[in-house]
Amino acid sequence: MIIVQITDLHIGQANADTYGVDIRHNFLMVLGELKTLDPDYIVITGDLCYEYGELEIYRWIKSKMDNLKIPYLVIPGNHDDSAMMREVFEIEYTQEEDEIFFAKRLGKQRALFLDSSQASMSDIQLKWLKRQLKQSADEPLLIFTHYPPMKAGVPFMDTKHSYKESSELLEILEEYPSNIYLFCGHYHIDRLLSQKKLHVQISPSIICQIDSYSKEFKIDHYKAGYRVIELSKESLITSLHYLEGKMLA
Ligand SMILES: [Fe+2]
Repeated sequence: MIIVQITDLHIGQANADTYGVDIRHNFLMVLGELKTLDPDYIVITGDLCYEYGELEIYRWIKSKMDNLKIPYLVIPGNHDDSAMMREVFEIEYTQEEDEIFFAKRLGKQRALFLDSSQASMSDIQLKWLKRQLKQSADEPLLIFTHYPPMKAGVPFMDTKHSYKESSELLEILEEYPSNIYLFCGHYHIDRLLSQKKLHVQISPSIICQIDSYSKEFKIDHYKAGYRVIELSKESLITSLHYLEGKMLA
């Protein structure tokens, strides 16, 4: 089974200066590749909108995703509006009005989709997460969410934009007796972090990547990245793909 993760689209209004990147072009270019690849699922892990959630932008993204005819799932990032996304993408399987979280089997693989868009999770979501972890303890688990649950050695993001309640979430995840493979975005870099049985893969954005050494916001490069996850009974192999991003004229 093949799952593709794309993240941090940051699509703005038609005339918005989105870091000088023609992000709609980048997004459509990635979808063009995915059409050929024909994965079983596409997961979009948040920051669909440039700055804040806008109905028009969600509708545009949805129409392009629907055209692909590949099953896809969406969860929000810190630049999204969960309630608005739930309405546009017709997400019914969620418990809380302001959050989008749900469990779903992708083929035979159990996966959880978490809403970390506030850099934290509500008590209702955390309780739900604990219950879900108890239900599937002897199989490896996939988790998709926007924020990495821990700091990643990227000074600008770690000091200004990291997940707020890291130790609380890590404590819950660490209790899981099998491997957890967590896929996220938000940092606009690619990185693998492992802590006991928790393996966190931060995936690159499709708008631009952040310099992972700088204390201030600094763009490293403008290639558009996405992650391919190949799952079989015996293995989980992930690979990163980068395309030349297009700048606005
Ligand atoms: Fe982002």
